[in-house]
Amino acid sequence: MASTPHTISSLLTLTLTLLLISSLSSPSTATNPIPSPWPSQFHSVLFMNSSGTLQKTDLWYDWPNGRNFNIIQTQLGTLTYDLEWNNGTSYIYTLDSDQKCRVLHFEVGILRPDWLDGANYLGQKYMDGFLCNVWEKVDFIWYYEDVETKRPVFWEFYTGFSGHVMTFEVGKVLEDAKWQAPLYCFQEAQEEKSSLIESSMAAGLGPFGGFMREPVTSKIQL
Ligand SMILES: *[C@@H]1O[C@H](CO)[C@@H](O)[C@H](O)[C@H]1NC(C)=O
Ligand SMILES: *[C@@H]1O[C@H](CO)[C@@H](O)[C@H](O)[C@H]1NC(C)=O
Repeated sequence: MASTPHTISSLLTLTLTLLLISSLSSPSTATNPIPSPWPSQFHSVLFMNSSGTLQKTDLWYDWPNGRNFNIIQTQLGTLTYDLEWNNGTSYIYTLDSDQKCRVLHFEVGILRPDWLDGANYLGQKYMDGFLCNVWEKVDFIWYYEDVETKRPVFWEFYTGFSGHVMTFEVGKVLEDAKWQAPLYCFQEAQEEKSSLIESSMAAGLGPFGGFMREPVTSKIQL
């Protein structure tokens, strides 16, 4: 009877010791932060900079419906719609009197919410005045996330194309009617098959343009 408290305290000591040992011996990578997965639906306003060419992008990410929209205002220029479906089809069009539309086919769908999995942690850095955790993935993208709120703040592609996150509205969805490409996208032989890089460069679009589709795949195809 008298030995019971002693046994319990020994067990406790043993457990604490084991816990201490395991925490000391676990590799430091185990304590590295990992990027937050993207919310399955969000709206974000982004300021993008491609070698000094500026654009404002409305990004509507909508994973459950398999679609992603970049609505791109170049500075004092054109408003371009880049509508991406998870089946690989992208419609890139204007809604002005020019009635331009390009239809592209990619071999990959839109980014998955967990697309940042496996990114390498690079530590903390200030960006735009926010203390951020920074990761890099396949030498393709550098991604900055606010330490405090876990919201993305900034990202940059290996090309130097970068984006500053101005708003980040989790759960906000663009109404269905807006996800309809105009009729002239479906007339004539508009369709093109393009490599990821070629088309994203040609279109020069979006926070990711074609990059918005799997970055790993685009990297492989380089
Ligand atoms: C845009 O990026 C270029 C470097 O590519 C930089 O020199 C310039 O200051 C940036 N402009 C803005 C408004 O951030
Ligand atoms: C992909 O889905 C969109 C939207 O439903 C559709 O317009 C397009 O034709 C589809 N593409 C293919 C290759 O099935």
